[in-house]
Amino acid sequence: MRRLTNLLVVFVAAAARVAANDQQVFRQHATPDSKLAQRTYDQASSTGNLIFWSVNSLLQQWPNTRYINGHTITAAAVLPGTILYHGRGNDDRPVALDWLATDPEHSVVFCRSKCYLYTYVTTRALRLAYFDGSSAAKIRPSGVMDTQDILIWGKVRPDMTRNEAGRIRELCKWGEQFELDGFVRMEMDFEVMICDFGAGMELVSESQIVPHASEERHRPDSMDLFYPSPPPPPPPRPQPLPELPPGWRGSARSRISISFEVLNSGTWHNRSPGEKRVKIDYSRVVSFFDPALSSLAKARTGKSREEFRLDEISETDSKYIREQLHDIFTRTGQGSGIDWGSITQVIVDRYGKRLELLQHILQNPGSKRNITEQVAEVRSQALIMLTPYMLVSAIPPNPTGPVDPSWIDPVVKHCASTHTAWAPSTLLTPQEKLIKVAVEAVLFRICGVLGDIWKDAFDSGETGLNALQRLLGKWQSDIEQLMDWLDWSMWLKCEPICGPEEICYIPTWPWGYRFDRNEGEKVDMTPRCIEAVAPYSFLQPFEP
Ligand SMILES: *[C@@H]1O[C@H](CO)[C@@H](O)[C@H](O)[C@H]1NC(C)=O
Repeated sequence: MRRLTNLLVVFVAAAARVAANDQQVFRQHATPDSKLAQRTYDQASSTGNLIFWSVNSLLQQWPNTRYINGHTITAAAVLPGTILYHGRGNDDRPVALDWLATDPEHSVVFCRSKCYLYTYVTTRALRLAYFDGSSAAKIRPSGVMDTQDILIWGKVRPDMTRNEAGRIRELCKWGEQFELDGFVRMEMDFEVMICDFGAGMELVSESQIVPHASEERHRPDSMDLFYPSPPPPPPPRPQPLPELPPGWRGSARSRISISFEVLNSGTWHNRSPGEKRVKIDYSRVVSFFDPALSSLAKARTGKSREEFRLDEISETDSKYIREQLHDIFTRTGQGSGIDWGSITQVIVDRYGKRLELLQHILQNPGSKRNITEQVAEVRSQALIMLTPYMLVSAIPPNPTGPVDPSWIDPVVKHCASTHTAWAPSTLLTPQEKLIKVAVEAVLFRICGVLGDIWKDAFDSGETGLNALQRLLGKWQSDIEQLMDWLDWSMWLKCEPICGPEEICYIPTWPWGYRFDRNEGEKVDMTPRCIEAVAPYSFLQPFEP
């Protein structure tokens, strides 16, 4: 660990707990001009995994359903020529302060006995702010709207969780000073809150379409699967019958199929690249995992990831965030132009499945390999991952007597710094500097663990069986700790994979999450396969 810390300081300058006598080395590598860099570098790896995770997960449905409480506000855009939808039960065309969906599947949920579908196209890039997490889900108590509350009021307002009309008004009022067109949020699927329908968009069509059958309202039966004692369902409410056009034959779409398909359209954006119709400006990503926010660091102590919230933010920290927001929406320029989203994805692509494979080999289920073979396979896998960094000069000195383990350092350094060493600190925005530190912290940890395994396994051919067994135990725990720390969403999946008439599902508001929950009530986030066809036995009809 000591050696790792030194490496971190010297090569990556992104250490969490920089030992006092390393401070000097560290200072030389921190950019002198930036107070933000100074503050964040001091504690970076304490939240590097969380910032990396958020940046990598922006606009993806699955990770933001897994952890519903958002911790990021970013500048975003919807480019010209993008089609957006609005559905409702009457023909009052929206003019201001209303919602558009990226997928029509999401819009038709709002139809009633009649169904009007308005289709819009953007005529220029819309200036937007995006809140990550399940920021449009109406769950109480939870932290889904914390980032919005802090943006608007500087503090969390639990009384506003369900006041959507008040919220859009306040958001748009706040956005006026920056000429924002609206806000992007996510619930079962993505939505854009539009401040003024006369700005940056045109109506493409205004159609009355065939409505779906209405059914009695139920609380989702799916609750049974997630809560020990579900509340009794409310009494059924009479619903107006759908007005089917004269001459229509056969059945209309069922309410439950409408409900399922909004969930289904959300899953199209589950993984990278996520919701492509919205573009993130990576030079303007404001993170509440910024370690400079000490009140939040304190609030997270002893909590699990799903419990992280922003309601204990201090006034100072709230002010610091609001200043950053002001800065990102007023400054000109594009920062370094580095696509940080793609850098994080390259890292997830390169190591995600391989770490999972390594973990599987180390668990050795069914004892497919004896100890010697298991060690040999782990050695091969470490070499596979480190190949681009396996310098011919990084060979241990002739092992007569104790070997200085630092022979592996150049490999680890090379592995950990390749993606960011170039990034010119003079061009990076404060938000980019934070992402850079997070990428370095994550890579440093991955490369450090792999380097350690390689160092141990390098000449393990000569080692006795007991010693090999000890090594395997150590590696297994190292890999497990690493994967726990990274907590990449790709590792949360349905096993075995779902059949052709199913989708993989984790509780997605409002199915599986109660509208109102008891404080501290846990939801079982184990992914499961659910029916994608009638009778959709998992879901029950839902009226928004
Ligand atoms: C492990 O299996 C290989 C191949 O079957 C064999 O050559 C080797 O002797 C075995 N080693 C031990 C320790 O059992």
